Amino acid sequence: MSCDTENNEGGEDKKRTPQHVAIIMDGNGRWAQSRGRPRLFGHHAGARRVREVVECCPHLGIRYLTIFAFSTENWKRTQVEVAGLMSLFRRYISKEMKALAAQDVRVRFIGDRVRLDKKLVHLMDTMEVETAGNVGTQLTIALNYGGRDEVARATKRLARDVADGKLDPDLVDEETLPKYLDTYVLPDPDLVVRTSGEARISNFLLWQSAYSEYEFIDTLWPDFTAEELGRLCANYSNRDRRFGAVGP
Ligand code: FPP
Repeated sequence: MSCDTENNEGGEDKKRTPQHVAIIMDGNGRWAQSRGRPRLFGHHAGARRVREVVECCPHLGIRYLTIFAFSTENWKRTQVEVAGLMSLFRRYISKEMKALAAQDVRVRFIGDRVRLDKKLVHLMDTMEVETAGNVGTQLTIALNYGGRDEVARATKRLARDVADGKLDPDLVDEETLPKYLDTYVLPDPDLVVRTSGEARISNFLLWQSAYSEYEFIDTLWPDFTAEELGRLCANYSNRDRRFGAVGP
């Protein structure tokens, strides 16, 4: 594997590297179908890309990587595809545990675990515990995740704290809610990438991406490479982020 490191050289460029990249990995199904194969074949190919992209992060100066693996809406797919994806997640976690630990990757999961099967949740918990001391790439996997669902669950917890007298409702501001989100330990994404030519965000990190930069690219996820991520990071370094202010 080779990584385009141009974005990580020199003081000024390094400052402009996206610290947190979030990816909507789309296009596995079409990739498989164009080869006359079942959709799950594409998901397996997609899982291999996850490995390459995770490995590339330290070379590109990306500290936080968040990937959208399964949305709260993906349950609408056929039972065969959902079961195949769940089995793939279980296999991925079991298989990648050692490799990720060896690369000093810390893994976290976001999303609602209630609907996931117990075996998968146990593997997720184990992976989080096993990698908790790692200080390299901070990988977050969104699994049964939806931005609206996350905000609703956060609001429920916040409302409970108000009801229990732990939180003064007059003091609730835009700094308060993120503390209740699944992502409370993560910075907001600097760059959100969606593969496969679709220009929508599909309920991903709705609160957190208010000021993110976006890249919608045509590549189908199983064809995505470390080099392409390097190019997107280089594009990002030329973006003028003003956060609502005016430029100099
Ligand atoms: C969207 O493509 C992709 C998904 C719903 C699943 C994403 C899962 C992976 C990349 C597998 C591996 C992930 C991990 C963490 C091991 P799509 O099926 O909607 O594609 P289509 O739009 O072409 O139908």
